[in-house]
Amino acid sequence: MRIPDVAPGAKVLAFGHYQPATIVTNDDLAKVMDTNDEWIQSRVGIRERRIASEGESVEDMAVQAGGKALAASGLSASDIDLVIVATCTLETQIPNAAAVVAHRLGIESPGAFDVNAACAGFCYALATASAAVRGGSARNVLVIGSEKLSQWVDPTDRSTAVIFADGAGAAVVAPSDTPGIGPVVWGSAGDRSDAIIINDRNDSLHQEGQAVFRWATTALHPVAREACERAGVDPSELAAFVPHQANLRIIEAIARKLGADKAVIARDIVTAGNTSAASIPLALSRMIERGEVRSGDLALVLGFGAGLTYAGQVIEVP
Ligand code: UT7
Repeated sequence: MRIPDVAPGAKVLAFGHYQPATIVTNDDLAKVMDTNDEWIQSRVGIRERRIASEGESVEDMAVQAGGKALAASGLSASDIDLVIVATCTLETQIPNAAAVVAHRLGIESPGAFDVNAACAGFCYALATASAAVRGGSARNVLVIGSEKLSQWVDPTDRSTAVIFADGAGAAVVAPSDTPGIGPVVWGSAGDRSDAIIINDRNDSLHQEGQAVFRWATTALHPVAREACERAGVDPSELAAFVPHQANLRIIEAIARKLGADKAVIARDIVTAGNTSAASIPLALSRMIERGEVRSGDLALVLGFGAGLTYAGQVIEVP
């Protein structure tokens, strides 16, 4: 047996994102359910969110975001030999999204699979992509988080409909001489699996909001710190902190406890809502586009959600 040459490191070459065209404001929601702009902004931090059209699928949004990341990376479709889609909101279980998306992007016969680690999915997929590149089982990987939460949320349920939204974000992962993706710290709390749940295919998403809030604001800053420690980075050196966009109060609580004093904190939730596995690459891609972070900056990404699952790693901004 021969072991292939392995790359010393892996890095993100480029990000890309896609948001559906329809903007739904808090006032729009207040017209159809018992809620109001003041409650949503003060309790969750969302001002508006994007909702996909009826015919627009998880795969459609993934193709848009993946295509942009690929174009920005300077690679061509033939350079990609592994595609991973992180999602928990596919309309059907078969076929998987990754194979369909790869085909539509003109990527011929790559390895293709989906990851379901709910809102932590992108960080799981990024870690898997990094390991595949460093271990020699892939040259370049397209990693996409794409979600259509609107098709799994009861549009009249004010406890979820005001929070969850649709969108996609993507990254191209390639080999590098120096590490650009730090070691992942990941884990789960399966004893809390009913805290965020869709019971069956006719059901909608339910979450024990307060219980998840308590967990997120008490259990995750040590994970964030450990991800920094394992990458040999002090939190004070972080230029950006990009946690899953679940709730602005959670984002700010973890940031405070982490002590990333110089970091720009992602607050994409304000205009994008909670897009589960898409929220981290969507937020970071938009921060890069707005010039809030620069190439070479260190950013901590931290996903968490149903499962319960969590994962975080330090990455170098492309
Ligand atoms: O992405 C996956 C991970 N998920 C999370 O991290 C979510 C974590 N949890 C949260 O972000 C928050 O718990 C929520 C945003 C889900 C809810 O916020 P909360 O501050 O925990 O509110 P609550 O559920 O305790 O509800 C407080 C009050 C209740 O009224 P009473 O019983 O005090 O009279 C609710 O009925 O607010 C009421 N309420 C609303 N009022 C207006 C609940 N939803 C709404 C609404 N508009 N949309």
